Amino acid sequence: MQILKVKTKPSYEILIGENLLEKIPEDLKNYCDFGKVAIITDSKVEKLYGQKLLEILQDFGIPAKLFSFPQGEASKNMDTVVKLARAMVQAGFDRKDLILALGGGVVGDVAGFLASIYLRGIPFVQIPTTLLAQVDSSIGGKTGVDLPEGKNLLGTFYQPKRVYIDLSVLNTLPLSEIKNGLAEIIKYGCILKTKLFQFIKNKGKALYKLNPQDLGYLIYESCFAKAYVVSRDEKEAGLRRVLNFGHTIGHALETLSNYQVPHGYCVAVGMLVEARLSEVLGVAEKPVYEPLKSLLIDLEMPYKISDLLPLISPAEFFSALSRDKKVWKGKLTIVLLKKIGKFHFYENPPHEVILQTLEECY
Ligand SMILES: NC(=O)c1ccc[n+]([C@@H]2O[C@H](COP(=O)([O-])OP(=O)(O)OC[C@H]3O[C@@H](n4cnc5c(N)ncnc54)[C@H](O)[C@@H]3O)[C@@H](O)[C@H]2O)c1
Ligand SMILES: [Zn+2]
Repeated sequence: MQILKVKTKPSYEILIGENLLEKIPEDLKNYCDFGKVAIITDSKVEKLYGQKLLEILQDFGIPAKLFSFPQGEASKNMDTVVKLARAMVQAGFDRKDLILALGGGVVGDVAGFLASIYLRGIPFVQIPTTLLAQVDSSIGGKTGVDLPEGKNLLGTFYQPKRVYIDLSVLNTLPLSEIKNGLAEIIKYGCILKTKLFQFIKNKGKALYKLNPQDLGYLIYESCFAKAYVVSRDEKEAGLRRVLNFGHTIGHALETLSNYQVPHGYCVAVGMLVEARLSEVLGVAEKPVYEPLKSLLIDLEMPYKISDLLPLISPAEFFSALSRDKKVWKGKLTIVLLKKIGKFHFYENPPHEVILQTLEECY
């Protein structure tokens, strides 16, 4: 088992290993005092691991109850939060008790948000079960839900007490969800970790065999990168924005697809556009576009805008991008690459250069 510390206030540890679910009760008991445990999960993860975790806790003598909601982003709203909160009140959960968020990013965001407001805040622990949640959403303390007006519009910064990353649960994850998480791992490689990028390149599609040693390395290095960034900038005042590499273009792709294209696919293409932009704007000192493009091709990930939005022209895409108030509020700071493994903040890239680069990446 590997352990990583996230030095936020308060700080906490990430534990990474195989078959970790079984070890949770003992570790929790050694680590903190609590009364009952509320496992919050979604309908799919409940069947795969929720019941199992409930039994593991109960066998250890920990009083526990399972609360679940329908799987999918559509459940990430206040209605779900209120339903869960009412069920927990009715089951007698109070401030001595503990929430375990068992699932992907949706569960983590909902359960974390609920934990931050339930009785003005009760402790919670993340047990992420998707690759994306393991390398991204379970670390850093961002919680929240969507509104009809947009994603993640309500939320809090609220750090978990602990994060348990069980590599074994990834075996049931569909390949598309593995690729979704892999895009964020490639992102860490691009902005901070040349060796991680090189490792992914060397392994290629063999990574999809989900060998625990490979997964352990990918996840440890990614968590290390995210922990490094959020420890230095918890509330996204500066450095944390580096995590937006690939996301300026990626978010626009995601919005234009009406959230039909998975986030990681949009980020993959977004990273490639932003890599090319790094070269066109003279920021890149070494090639960044070709290495990233060949990596995405090797991994059978999308790499062209037209792979994701076949019906939208570069000009239409650009005009949607320039209408996005979040992107263009006052000045636009975009994350570019000096080389693979080294980021650079760049302000106000000229519109015509962006349009030209978009055309190249179609
Ligand atoms: N808080 C943050 O910092 C942060 C960062 C990135 C993303 N997010 C949020 O995370 C969410 C996306 O997370 P996600 O991609 O994990 O989606 P998700 O939680 O919807 O999970 C994807 C699907 O996989 C299923 N699943 C989960 N674990 C499984 C397993 N082990 N085996 C088989 N199926 C499994 C789920 O039931 C779901 O159907 C978005 O809402 C996004 O806004 C938050
Ligand atoms: Zn992302």
